[in-house]
Amino acid sequence: MEKQRENFGSKFGVIAAAAGSAVGLGNIYRFPCEAGENGGGAFLIVYLLIIVFLGIPLMLSEFIIGRRSHRNTVGAFKTLAPKTAWPIVGFVGVISSFLILAFYSTIAGWTLECIYKSLINFYHGKNISEIEQGMTNFNNSFRPFIWQTLFIILTAFIVLKGIEKGIEKYAKVLMPMLFVILIILCVKSLTLPNATEGLKFFFKPDFSKITPEVCISALGQAFFSLSVGMGVQITYGSYINKKDNLLTSSTSVVMTDTLVAILAGITIFPAAFSMGISPKAGAGLAFNTLPLIFNQMAGGYIFCLIFFILLAIAALTSTISLLEASVAYFVEEHSIKRKKATIWCAIGALIVGLFATLSLQDNSNIVIGNMSFFNILDNLTANILMPVGGLLITIFIGWQLKKTAFIDELTNQGTTKIALKNIIFFIIKYIAPLAIVTIIVGRLVFNIK
Ligand code: TRP
Repeated sequence: MEKQRENFGSKFGVIAAAAGSAVGLGNIYRFPCEAGENGGGAFLIVYLLIIVFLGIPLMLSEFIIGRRSHRNTVGAFKTLAPKTAWPIVGFVGVISSFLILAFYSTIAGWTLECIYKSLINFYHGKNISEIEQGMTNFNNSFRPFIWQTLFIILTAFIVLKGIEKGIEKYAKVLMPMLFVILIILCVKSLTLPNATEGLKFFFKPDFSKITPEVCISALGQAFFSLSVGMGVQITYGSYINKKDNLLTSSTSVVMTDTLVAILAGITIFPAAFSMGISPKAGAGLAFNTLPLIFNQMAGGYIFCLIFFILLAIAALTSTISLLEASVAYFVEEHSIKRKKATIWCAIGALIVGLFATLSLQDNSNIVIGNMSFFNILDNLTANILMPVGGLLITIFIGWQLKKTAFIDELTNQGTTKIALKNIIFFIIKYIAPLAIVTIIVGRLVFNIK
């Protein structure tokens, strides 16, 4: 049953949509968290290497699988490798997206709280400990549950109405705005006293701090931030025009995402060092530091409000793509009605998500070992499921799809010249799987010690 498929009208459309899924809380909240906890510069250098040697090839691989098969994540594998176990890769992706949605919505809810606090001018004149106290009080109240529920309802509503096209149209305008505000913030942050300390922390690699732990965290963060390793980009790839150059498209998406993450780092670390916030502050790094910078700016009230609104929308475009992944699976592979699938997936994610939120409260019992349920979901998806998914996707291209098909798709049946095509294939077939396995195994061995 072949459905009529649309293509993106323009190349910009593809890049904007794939980048819309990629750019989100992962860049502005999770990236500084991970960089801060993993040694700053040491993390950044590993992260950038992973972006170039694994991120771009993987994004390209997903685009190639998508455009060649013209199908959704599970369907793509069924088409390109009929009667094999490969569709399981798509299935793992669906599970990952469901689990990510659960804990992602906790943080997405926080953006609503920040909008509310900006509106009532809560941040005005407050110092860091007052803002931190505000965050702790919020976390221990019932409000995170309300905001999270609201966020999931909003996501489900949009997925249900099928107005992603509308939201994407707005996102194309709003996301560049987020980018502009981030640049303004960045400039402001760099003028704060002691800003160079933060820059040093972020950019100066201390090679002795590069451990297996740092490598797996950088790998997980890179995949999480790019939305790769679980087939979401396969779906986007399936909409790309036959004439587009997949290499430049995937590179542009990866560069946009990385630029936003680096800008967030340049904004947050100098400000954190300037105000005496530890780079290991985790969630507080983004959510407490940024309002402090706004506090010091002319027009801070309005900038702060706009910033958090834009951040909420960036999160919304990401939660939509996450929910859509599960919904599409049930609709297309199990013939469940779209409405029913959306409602049940949203309720399921909300139930798991509420436990994730609860686990972040002080004195919460929802811990295993010393990890909260929230962190377990986060680690399971970013550090295990996505790297394994990414590994399988590169193996699929290199060893199942084979070189001729890969080159054929990459060069648009020989009509587009791609200088590095053989090297790229070599990286996907040998280097990428080896690198991912090394990082995963290295981490396991390291853990046992
Ligand atoms: N990449 C998004 C971010 O950085 C999160 C996200 C959205 C995601 N959709 C995804 C991650 C699909 C993995 C897979 O915020």
